[in-house]
Amino acid sequence: MKTIIEPFRIKSVEPLTRTTPEQREILLQQTGYNLFQLRAGDVLLDLLTDSGTSAMSTEQWAAVMRGDESYAGSESFFRLKSVVNGLTRFRHVIPTHQGRAAERILFSVLCKPGHIVPNNTHFDTTRANIEFTGARAIDLPIPEATDTQACLPFKGNIDIAALEKLIVREGAAQIPLVMITVTNNSSGGQPVSLANIRAAREVTQRHGIPLYLDACRFAENAWFIKQREPGYADKTPREIACEMFSLADGCTFSAKKDAFANIGGFLCTNDNSLAEQEMNLLILTEGFPTYGGLAGRDLDAIAVGLEEVLQPEYLEYRIASTGYLGRHIATGGVPIVEPPGGHAIYIDAGKMLPQIPKHQFPGQALAIALYRHAGVRSVEIGSVMFGEAARHELLRLAIPRRVYTQSHIDYLIEAILEVNERKNDLRGVEIVEEPPFLRHFSATFRPLGESE
Ligand code: F0G
Repeated sequence: MKTIIEPFRIKSVEPLTRTTPEQREILLQQTGYNLFQLRAGDVLLDLLTDSGTSAMSTEQWAAVMRGDESYAGSESFFRLKSVVNGLTRFRHVIPTHQGRAAERILFSVLCKPGHIVPNNTHFDTTRANIEFTGARAIDLPIPEATDTQACLPFKGNIDIAALEKLIVREGAAQIPLVMITVTNNSSGGQPVSLANIRAAREVTQRHGIPLYLDACRFAENAWFIKQREPGYADKTPREIACEMFSLADGCTFSAKKDAFANIGGFLCTNDNSLAEQEMNLLILTEGFPTYGGLAGRDLDAIAVGLEEVLQPEYLEYRIASTGYLGRHIATGGVPIVEPPGGHAIYIDAGKMLPQIPKHQFPGQALAIALYRHAGVRSVEIGSVMFGEAARHELLRLAIPRRVYTQSHIDYLIEAILEVNERKNDLRGVEIVEEPPFLRHFSATFRPLGESE
């Protein structure tokens, strides 16, 4: 049969609250048209992020009960370590409360002012944690990735020629590590090929620079490789993931994505002396190395999630479901970042709403319109979030894992297409108040006279 179904049934349900368009208008006014300021109970479909929003399985909840809450030497830690070792072969597994804590510890140990850390595209916490040490974070996406409409199988790749050039120009001593983010979140959730990771490995090894994966969405990346990279169709997602990790010297990981956990992360390395320094820092701010800021029950939930996420039936459904959303809205005339990514669909709001200039924030205007119309929360990834540095005006619809069903996605498609029908009436917004940094979380906006 060709219908791909959700490979699970539902045991525990959470009611959704409906609001009326009038209520949503008032809520928008009260929150200064900033969807981060809404109460989650006032949102029907919450596509703000795929991070920490997954539904845990019965096996994960059972594992929660098995959690060992001992301060030192928790059995939960050894269960997690064994799963992570089996998958990544990294010698040291350092648990942290989420991905950015792993980043902070790694960069605090490795980076100094003046250093440079290249990545295919840094996620914003990765960039911020690098810059906090005085080092510079440099994005090296392949040039084709700047065209949102270009349909490439591995649009998340790092630009190998640019990487080589940067290392030669700046000197290997200035570059404490090179990172590759799989999948490439900031570039549309696009995958990275094994050939690209292998090529980056070759360059970094030749220059004696460690290569790290930002591996949050490693399983989704592995599935794209299975589908798209010659020679991998018959390999299991686990075999592909193992090969990805085998090319790296370490990784940072947010368990809030591809481990179906609501919290957690870890940092891995093969370097004994680095691990020792990292653990010293861990004890200072996160906790003892066998729990690292998490409860034992969280460690067990992550261990189970890491096994579940590699099940082919799950990954087939997951990638098909995101693709289904992308295909349907694109066919209906909505410009999306092509091809659909793994965890999210990104609408090119700049292209969809050409009447709204960059400085009137087309992505934010679209986020507001979609909430007003259908109670859907999405997130602007454009000039509100990145200011002058924004390369595109995007709206991200991130899909929480195992949470929404096909009919929720159908409702979403209908809502987006209805907003698209009256796109010419949409107007931009202006900022009323903004904080000095990370303004997207709390800035307030004013709509610029929409015509009805
Ligand atoms: N790296 C990537 C590629 C991410 O997408 C994220 C988080 C992190 C690191 C940080 O992990 O949240 O556990 O500290 N991304 C979320 C998002 C927040 O909505 O894309 P964290």
